[in-house]
Amino acid sequence: MCGIVGYIGYNDTKDILLNGLEKLEYRGYDSAGIAMLDNDDINLFKVKGRIAALRQRVDDTTAATMGIGHTRWATHGGPSAENAHPHQSTSGRFALVHNGVIENYQELKSDYLGGVDFGSETDTEIIVQLVEKNAEKYQDTAEAFRRTINLLKGSYAVALIDKEDRNTIYVAKNKSPLLVGLGDGFNVVTSDAMATLNETNQYLELNDQEIVIVKRNVVNVQTLDGTFVSRKPFTAEIDVTDTEKGTYPHFMLKEIDEQPLALRRIIQEYQDEHDHLKLDQNIRETMKVCDRIYIIAAGTSYHAGLVGKQFLEKMAGIPAEVHVASEFSYNMPLLSDNPLFVFISQSGETADSRSVLVKIKEMGHPALTITNVAGSTLSREADYTLHLHAGPEIAVASTKAYTAQIAVLAILAVDTARAKGLELDFDPMRELGITANAMEVLTDQKEAIDELVRDNLGTTRNAFFIGRSTDYFVCLEAALKLKEISYIQAEGFAGGELKHGTIALIEEGTPVIALATQETVNYSIRSNVSEVVARGANDMIFSMKGLEQDTDAFVLPEVHELLTPLVSVVPMQLLAYYAALHRGCDVDKPRNLAKSVTVE
Ligand code: F6R
Repeated sequence: MCGIVGYIGYNDTKDILLNGLEKLEYRGYDSAGIAMLDNDDINLFKVKGRIAALRQRVDDTTAATMGIGHTRWATHGGPSAENAHPHQSTSGRFALVHNGVIENYQELKSDYLGGVDFGSETDTEIIVQLVEKNAEKYQDTAEAFRRTINLLKGSYAVALIDKEDRNTIYVAKNKSPLLVGLGDGFNVVTSDAMATLNETNQYLELNDQEIVIVKRNVVNVQTLDGTFVSRKPFTAEIDVTDTEKGTYPHFMLKEIDEQPLALRRIIQEYQDEHDHLKLDQNIRETMKVCDRIYIIAAGTSYHAGLVGKQFLEKMAGIPAEVHVASEFSYNMPLLSDNPLFVFISQSGETADSRSVLVKIKEMGHPALTITNVAGSTLSREADYTLHLHAGPEIAVASTKAYTAQIAVLAILAVDTARAKGLELDFDPMRELGITANAMEVLTDQKEAIDELVRDNLGTTRNAFFIGRSTDYFVCLEAALKLKEISYIQAEGFAGGELKHGTIALIEEGTPVIALATQETVNYSIRSNVSEVVARGANDMIFSMKGLEQDTDAFVLPEVHELLTPLVSVVPMQLLAYYAALHRGCDVDKPRNLAKSVTVE
């Protein structure tokens, strides 16, 4: 949530900041702002809304060579220009951007800042006001910054500029992501390397509770007590073109179309030259000895986890539980003797998952992260990582990461089964290859899905997705996709569960979308469809080839029964896409959401 970018060098900073913020908009888009140091004055521009609006507001004549910028997902204080970052101290000397939540901001306000006139309702503003107060006291900005950061409780990635110092950006990090990008005669600060790839591909990772003094030619990392830390940069392996929409109208459509490619990339990455599965031997050993797997995830990744649990149990013979990350700490189950925690996260930054990771590491348990972002917090802090290789996912609604997560979980389960010497009649690479082709058949059928949407979801207020067994998990994901981007109230239900209450909501014309990809439950799901049709529902059945009936709305190409979620989800993603499109919704940036949820 919230994106930060900063630049200090010799070039015009305006475009670097605005271009960077555009790339970070997936992290929140309630308001935006930049502050640039020009002629010993801080030029501040803030708007409610998107970067496009900010771009129009920014004065073209400003020619600064250092500055900071922010795109916001509101937590404390509604979306408005006043609450937009950067926030300035009362005298105007300091400007600061922040991503995270300061948990003790009320306390700090009353303990240290009585009498200060606040210009916003944010928790952030106390940081910049405290820096000003400490700067008066200690007559040294670095010291004032360090003392201020030491007072903060909660999560923060912050960048500060001082109008009396044209050579420094002060940076600090705890729990929220932040990188320092290294250049020749310049340096950048960013929430995500993707935002500043045009400047550099060399980045320094920051640990929690570190401060960085960033100058044009020097970057000093230190701990909160002022001890210097030496750290080697890493190369961000992202292709800039992967972060562009190209000829597509929306990132979401591009990412839906990229799914077969992502699957093929996974096959390539996880298969060695002898066609054996290629997995870190340590992961293999840990999988072999664990007696229960606890999958921790949120949203779409949680839905992928539900499918993954089945692979782990059915193929690898390991009991598995799937937990919503934000609930796990309160409702922690009794753990087995040798648990393994598997974190599934596209971004690798989800705060809810990370807080579980921190907790279970304190308890001494091993952790494996499955993520799309190498070098992300969850990846760095877990013992092991499996990479999704799906390429950057930019649309807020997750699509290709979901299918990549399922594919990698399948590979993990098969690898473990083989390591344990279990007999399996399932060749994952062959089946994933067949599935990639089937996905391609589906992404070619956009017009048919669009037509279904026009005929059935045009003006509906609500919609239900029903399925049994694995299809039920896909129904949960289908409903999430539809509601988050089209704002249609949608629910995913186990086919047999609807009659236990929710069927009361079915009325004349209510759309009910049923998935029928599992032979064992084909008869029962069709009975459930009959039950809702008898009450006036407008049904749409998506069935697997071989299980179809004449009245079905759509037939899916056949794939292995374990991998049906990878194909049945594609038309569900497209249904959501076209429903949102026809309702005039902002497909890639749905209201109230952000892609990387770095607050708990
Ligand atoms: C929905 C969506 C979210 C994320 C969730 C977890 O389309 O994208 O539900 O799946 O916020 O995010 P990650 O996977 O980054 O941990």
